[in-house]
Amino acid sequence: MQFEVFTLLPEVFPPYLESSILQRARQRGLIEVHVHNIRDYTHDKHHTTDDIPYGGGGGMVMKPEPVFDAVESILGVQPDCPIILLTPQGRVFNQRIAAEFSLQEKIALICGRYEGVDERIRTRLVSDEISIGDYVLTGGELPALILIDAISRFIPGVLGDPDGASDDSHASGLLEYPHYTRPPEFRGWDVPEVLLSGDHAKINQWRREQSLRRTFERRPDLLEKAELSEADRKMLEQIRKTKREGS
Ligand code: ADE
Repeated sequence: MQFEVFTLLPEVFPPYLESSILQRARQRGLIEVHVHNIRDYTHDKHHTTDDIPYGGGGGMVMKPEPVFDAVESILGVQPDCPIILLTPQGRVFNQRIAAEFSLQEKIALICGRYEGVDERIRTRLVSDEISIGDYVLTGGELPALILIDAISRFIPGVLGDPDGASDDSHASGLLEYPHYTRPPEFRGWDVPEVLLSGDHAKINQWRREQSLRRTFERRPDLLEKAELSEADRKMLEQIRKTKREGS
């Protein structure tokens, strides 16, 4: 899968992309990330990428010409891939959206800066607007890296584990169960007995129950959309009952 990133801060990308899992994925040719400096597509002496807003008011606005030129030079005038603008005004990113984007061969990510981008970029160039959460950052670079990371995890082979991203928190709509590793006892705190039992049916049942319990306690909103079996519903009823009795 190919990511075409358009930014005014290309230097922030390599340190993250050259680390760990994403580095390995790039070396294996599973993902390609091309970072383009929007400033290289300006045509004036000062390489201007922003200007004051029409109508007055504070802040600067990202000019349309360099952004259109950059995107059209790389992708052509009628790009056939999603062109995503990172903006706090977009729909909020989640695991489902990451999975959907991972099915694309190529996506373009435009990182906004300044107070915002000229509206014609939104309406005439961009196909999707994505926010990574209800807070405002100084630009779309970190959000772009977050998308690249979350999307890449769905590409077969990127995670060494054959189950890939399907075991992650949120994959089935639930939070993940607790993890333990050696030693079995640390400062007097024991690993739950069942995990040492070697009984995989029991372990799976325990993990499922922990997932349901955690989701119920921390993110009950997720339970409404989660894929739940009859056994899950029974377990959940039990969890609810013990909570009611406990409180
Ligand atoms: N740019 C600034 N804040 C952002 C956010 N929350 N999500 C995506 N892009 C942004």
